[in-house]
Amino acid sequence: MKVFRLKKELQKQLSELKKDGKSIGFVPTMGALHQGHLALVEGALKDNDVTVVSIFVNPTQFDNPEDLKKYPRTFDTDVNLLHKLSDTILIFKPDSLDFYDGNVESQRFNFDGLELEMEGKHRPGHFDGVGTVVKKLFETVQPDRAYFGEKDFQQLQIIKKLVAKEKMPIEIVPIPIYRETDGLAMSSRNKRLQPVYRRAAPFIYQVLKQARLIFQNQTPEATKAFVTQSIAAHPFLELEYFEIADEKTLKPIKTKINSNKYRGFIVVYAGEVRLIDNIKL
Ligand code: PAF
Repeated sequence: MKVFRLKKELQKQLSELKKDGKSIGFVPTMGALHQGHLALVEGALKDNDVTVVSIFVNPTQFDNPEDLKKYPRTFDTDVNLLHKLSDTILIFKPDSLDFYDGNVESQRFNFDGLELEMEGKHRPGHFDGVGTVVKKLFETVQPDRAYFGEKDFQQLQIIKKLVAKEKMPIEIVPIPIYRETDGLAMSSRNKRLQPVYRRAAPFIYQVLKQARLIFQNQTPEATKAFVTQSIAAHPFLELEYFEIADEKTLKPIKTKINSNKYRGFIVVYAGEVRLIDNIKL
């Protein structure tokens, strides 16, 4: 397994591979890899000649310093997991100062309003941080395809907007949410759940599935009320938000239009851990 720390070193290796006509697949991650990430890597390995995985806990996208401090860092285990999939994967573990050219700060973005909804409201500056790091990663790796999970659906739509606006010739490949057998969406943050909260957390997906049924013949408002009440009644979970929004614009809806596609988006605190999930309605 080759691990690159400096942009220049990775770019040198990639330019040789590109000269030989190899296609490049890219999976950006913050490490603490789980099966959800590995599904992205498997997608990249299947579609491309070369797969690059970046592992970088990007400081500029954390609005909460405590969350950044506690974000799990498990580099050796991550490398082993990737090695089991393929020993040809190129790992990019950037040195923060080299990567940010000494200036670890976010650029400001306009994603046509996508950044103002849901996570944008609750995590100020988050999508500027994500946009900054992903743009820099794309400029460094220049992949043919990049893989993102639908768990962070708003992020996925924002990345599609980023490549369209920046005119980057990169195909963004969405990968469905990977769940534990009890339904909890896989997340690196799940590692931080105390047992009582870990046992409570699958309730989130149970409520989302019921909401999907309710949404079929009731209003968005009634569906929202059901989710709000269900989570409020749970002793170990606390709702931050539940929104029903259009998949394209991410704008919350009041009434349904049958030709449009909707999703339910939820954020719940289980103890100190912030869990995010969504469901196609
Ligand atoms: O989804 C993530 O893990 C991060 O937001 C990403 C895309 C790797 C950027 O740091």
